[in-house]
Amino acid sequence: MKKVITYGTFDLIHVGHVNLLRRAKELGDYLIVGLSTDNFNKNKNKTAYYTFEDRKIILESIQYVDLVIAESNWKQKTRDIRTYDVDLFVMGDDWKGSFDFLKETCEVVYLPRTTGISTSCVKKRISKT
Ligand code: CTP
Repeated sequence: MKKVITYGTFDLIHVGHVNLLRRAKELGDYLIVGLSTDNFNKNKNKTAYYTFEDRKIILESIQYVDLVIAESNWKQKTRDIRTYDVDLFVMGDDWKGSFDFLKETCEVVYLPRTTGISTSCVKKRISKT
């Protein structure tokens, strides 16, 4: 079984998230999502609209997602990859190059982002209506 892992905040799920999750799952058999906790988001100067618990429930309902784990710091990725015996690490290409150090532990792939959509952009559009 080929295990894939990806990370993110996944707030206000939109088609860019679903495309990323679908393509990540297509690259293997089992998809794990490391979901940023509310505290970790604070460290990243990010505030999610939905709580970690709600974002987790929503992600778990997506057919491509097999397991959601908490991402609470920048350093845990190598440990997660070993703990869950992960073969492939996937992120959108806005992160291109940032996680190349993981190539010592598993395969690393950056997928092209879906253009024209992001959580920030949805929030901005809604605040204008
Ligand atoms: N992603 C994507 N296409 C988009 C938006 C996000 O492929 N249009 C991917 C990101 O590259 C990342 C994952 O989805 O691998 C989770 O991204 P996240 O930061 O949670 O979503 P964004 O919509 O980019 O959120 P924000 O606007 O708050 O940065």
